[in-house]
Order: sequence, then C-alpha cells, then structure tokens
Amino acid sequence: MAKLLASIAWDWTLVWTAIGVYVAYNVVYFFYRLHQVRSLVREIPAKYGIPIMPHSYLFGHLVTVAKVMMKQPSDIFGGCAPLFVIKAYPELAAAGAMYMDMWPVSPPMLTVFDPDMMAQFCQEPSLPKAELMHTEFGPFTQLKDLVNLEGPDWKRWRGVFNPGFSAKNLLSLVPTFLEEIEVFVGHLQALAKSGEVVKFEEPAMDLTIDVIGRAALGARLHAQTKHNGFKDAMTRQVYWLETDRLPVTLLKLVNPFRPLMMWLHNRTMKNYFMPLIEQSIAEHSSSSQADTTNTTTGPKTIISLATKAYLSDPALDAKKSTQIDAEFLNVLISQLKIFMFAGHDTTATTLSFAYHLLHTNPSTLAALRAEHTSVFGPDPSTASSQIALNPALLNSLPYTLSVIKETLRLFPPVGSVREGQTNLFLTSPSTGTRYPTAGWMLFSCSFASQRWDAVWPRAGEFVPERWLVRDESDPLHVRKNAFRPFELGPRNCIGQELALLELKAIMVLTLREMEFESCYGEGAKKVEGDVAYQVKEAGQVTGHPKGGMPMRVRLRTGE
Ligand code: HEM
Ligand SMILES: *[C@@H]1O[C@H](CO)[C@@H](O)[C@H](O)[C@H]1NC(C)=O
Ligand SMILES: *[C@@H]1O[C@H](CO)[C@@H](O)[C@H](O)[C@H]1NC(C)=O
Repeated sequence: MAKLLASIAWDWTLVWTAIGVYVAYNVVYFFYRLHQVRSLVREIPAKYGIPIMPHSYLFGHLVTVAKVMMKQPSDIFGGCAPLFVIKAYPELAAAGAMYMDMWPVSPPMLTVFDPDMMAQFCQEPSLPKAELMHTEFGPFTQLKDLVNLEGPDWKRWRGVFNPGFSAKNLLSLVPTFLEEIEVFVGHLQALAKSGEVVKFEEPAMDLTIDVIGRAALGARLHAQTKHNGFKDAMTRQVYWLETDRLPVTLLKLVNPFRPLMMWLHNRTMKNYFMPLIEQSIAEHSSSSQADTTNTTTGPKTIISLATKAYLSDPALDAKKSTQIDAEFLNVLISQLKIFMFAGHDTTATTLSFAYHLLHTNPSTLAALRAEHTSVFGPDPSTASSQIALNPALLNSLPYTLSVIKETLRLFPPVGSVREGQTNLFLTSPSTGTRYPTAGWMLFSCSFASQRWDAVWPRAGEFVPERWLVRDESDPLHVRKNAFRPFELGPRNCIGQELALLELKAIMVLTLREMEFESCYGEGAKKVEGDVAYQVKEAGQVTGHPKGGMPMRVRLRTGE
C-alpha cells in the first residue's frame, strides 16, 4: 500500500513538472513572438518611412484601436473596426492601407481599403488565404473545401463546380427555389396574423438552408417546417470553431467536451450526406452511357457534378467498382459542408439588412414595388407561376438588383484575408507609397472600403440609384474594383449569381404582399446613424444583424 502511495506521489511530481514545462514553454514563446511582431511593426516607419498609429511595445495598437472603438457599441463586429480607424487617422489612411498590430488578438495585419490596392493581392496576383482561415476552418472541413484549398487542387475543384453556376443551370434550379420560398411566404403570413416580433434572421436562415439544399444536394431539407438534424449539427459545429474574441475562443479550446462535440456533429453531417452521395453515384453509374445523348436530366447540383467528375476520373477506375474511394469521399463531404454553410448564412443576413433598409427608406420600397408590378402585372399572386414558367424574368429587375447591391455595399458579411509574401509590395495609387507585406496578414476590408468617402460619394447613405448610373462622368458612377462583397479575382464567390437570383425571387414574392417593419427599441445604439449594424455573436463566423434583426410582419390590405 505504502509503495502504491509513493508511486502515486511520484506520478504527481511528474505531472506537475510536465505542466510547469508546458507553461514555461508557452510563456517563453509568447514573449518571443511578441518581440517578433513588435519588431516587424517598428520596421515599418524605421525602414520604410511609412507612418503608423501610436504603437506600444507591450500592447501594439490594442490601446489605440480600443480608444477609437470606445465610441462604438461594444458588440460591433470586429470586421467593421477599420472604418473607424480610418476616420480617426485620415492622414494615415489617405494612401489606402494601414498597418494594424492587434497581436495577440489577431495576426499583424495590413488592412487595405483602396480598391486598386485590394486588386494587387486578390486579383493580380491572388495570394493564398491567410493562416488564420486554416485555424478557423480546419476542424470543420480539414481544409479540403473550395474556400480553403489552394493551387492545383483548388483549380480542379473550381473547374468541377463551375458548370453548376452557369446562367443556364441556375435558371433551371429556380423552380425548386420557388417551392422553398412558397413555404417561407406561408410562414410569414402566419407571423403576420400573430403580430409578434421575431428575429427575422432565423426564418431567413431556414429558407436559405432549404434553397442551398436544392442547389448543392438536390434534396429537400425541410428546415423551415421540421427539425433538421443536419442543420443542427452544422450550426453547432460552426459554434465550436475558433472564430470568437480571444477570451471566448480560449474558453472553447479548454472545454473538455469540445472534441467530443466536434466528433459527434462531424459524424451527424457525414451520415446525412452518405445516402445522398450513394444515390448520386448509383444514378450516374447507370445513366453514364446515355449521358451524352440524354439532355432531359435535371439541373446540375454540387453533389452530381462531383459524382460525375469522380466516375470519369480514370485514375480511380480500379477502386470504383468495389467501394467509394475514401479520399474522394472525404473531400466531397468537406465540399458539401462548405457549400451548405457559405451558401446560406451570408444570403440570410443580406436579406435581413435589405428588409430593414427598405423599411427605413420608404421611397425606395415604393419604387421597388413599382418595378415588380411593371414586370409581373398588378396581381402579386401570379408572380410565382410566371417566374416558374420563365425564370429569366428575374434578370429584368434592375432596380431590385440595385437595392441588393446597395445593401451589400453597406453590409458586406465577410472580407478576404491573405498571406503576405516576401518581395511583394502593395503600391498606393494616390501616393506611390510601397507597402511591404512579408509577415503580414493582408485584409481586403470590404466594409471599410465600401463606406470610404474617398471612393464613394454619399458613402454613408443608402442610394440604390447609384447602381443605375451608366455615364462615367457622373459623380455617382461606381468605379472599377470598388464593389467587392463577393471579393474579386479568381477566388471570388462562386455562388454570387445564385445568391442574387435567390434574393430577387424572395423579394418579388414577399414585398408587394407584406410590410416588414424592423423593430429596434427607443434609444437603441447606432453605428453610422443606423440602429441595425453588424455584430458577431459567439459561434458566428460572419457579420450578422444586431439582435438577429427584430421584425414585425404585416399583410398589406388593398393599399
Ligand atoms: C450574399 C451572399 C454571399 C456573399 C456576400 C458571399 C461572399 C463571399 C466572399 C467574400 C468570398 C471570398 C471568401 C474569401 O476570400 O475567403 C466567397 C467565396 C465563396 N462563396 Fe460566397 N458569398 C455569398 C453567397 C454564396 C453562396 C449562395 C454560395 C454557394 C452556392 C457561396 C459559396 C462560396 C464558395 C464555395 C466560395 C469559395 C470560392 C473559391 O475560393 O473558389 N457563397 N463568398
Ligand atoms: C470528420 O469527418 C471526416 C469525414 O467526413 C474525417 O475525415 C475527419 O477525420 C473527421 N474529423 C473529426 C474531428 O472527427
Ligand atoms: C434521360 O434521363 C431521364 C432522367 O434521368 C430519364 O427519366 C429518361 O428515361 C432518360 N432518357 C433516355 C432516352 O435515356
């Protein structure tokens, strides 16, 4: 017995020593990295003569930026912060980019908001995604997804999925979207009867999940009407990702349940996809002979395009006959996850902000309804069947498109982050200053850029009319490279046309029959004059409307 106790005591010494070594290692590493980052920053004025904001060796720019952000609501989405920094330091911002050292909260960051400088690392050349993305998305997809793949792997998969986003294929998917939107309309009518204020973002998310389910999986998820296990697992998995403010992320990382939860949700998602994948492979194997002549096969979905590419890959011939190649299966599951996620979240928040902006801009709403009446006639109830017969009608709604674009200008849900490179400098078109990028994360900050008054006249106002200006000498004309909610260049959003088509269809089928009133209480905090601003609550990855967009719906009666 005594021997046993002695050995336990010995074990504890070992444990404590191990913990001590681990802590000491991390403390040493922290200060090593601190020195590395702060030296990188101090080099900017010293070696390159580029002025930076007041910088502290211990806190970097944390105190400087915190002072600027103290004037904003504390829950504002961090991705919006550069706009206020620009406004606080206009003389530093004038050249179009600013170094921001928020380490250890985020990697040392060169925030870029001049559109032509954004083009220098997103378009020509298009640099690889930042390390930060890998930390965030690794546990979700093992980075085998279209947003995170790089080089030839990315190129091949983009090629596989591109046909799914052709104008023709998207239009052929529209009738399936309409079925889901009809469910949404029914839901809104019930809400209108009850008169209650709801978080509009939630039914909007359920709708956009159902729509992307049709386009990616060719399946109905019924997330709008029933509990859906896949939706649940996806949302919870995203909740556990390292995308929050530092303290929340640290709490997640030390939570002993995290690995178990991640494993469970991962398995639930896979189990949901498996029968759909098997079915798609079975269908394509049996129809592969007729495929070349048969033109009556349905719209291309993400799952069917991947299956087709797999079955026609000669390198995999030997394995295909017995079982699905394991690596192909892993990649396909990752792709489906990213399409299901990227394909719903941003579209739903955009819809929420659009309805808020229409409520606060009644003349825009009136003009939009007038456009719908001129295209579909006075009876709103016929619009759905008209679109089903001729989906291309959705392409003759220039004002509706302008409203969506103006919403995305003011509330872009995400920006792109890239890894800076040795020998790559960004050149300011206005001052000629050359910004070194090695060691820096480059942030293409669409939010700041799209509200920067050096680029946009009436930058803070909601002016859909600017999108209709064709005359380049008109001050309202939108200049090249400036509109980047979907980013520009080879890594731009593959789903942008789908999102626009979907949003237009939803607007046509709801706005003439219903009134949407965003309901922020008296004295609600404002950002840039608006009570609706972007926040990122625990577990959210993109900018979401404050409070989930509280909304009351009413039926319009013979106005
Ligand atoms: C309003 C809605 C949307 C917005 C604002 C948006 C925005 C973006 C942005 C900014 C990127 C670049 C991300 C980066 O650089 O890391 C991106 C990429 C992507 N988006 Fe979207 N997106 C929307 C809708 C969609 C939809 C509906 C789908 C799916 C059908 C989708 C799928 C993707 C994919 C797969 C990528 C990666 C493309 C690649 O790297 O090849 N998105 N999106
Ligand atoms: C999640 O599932 C994929 C297959 O879908 C697998 O490759 C991966 O290892 C799983 N990850 C975790 C954390 O269980
Ligand atoms: C073409 O494909 C459709 C759908 O898979 C099928 O119903 C039809 O019988 C096929 N036609 C021919 C001629 O193979």
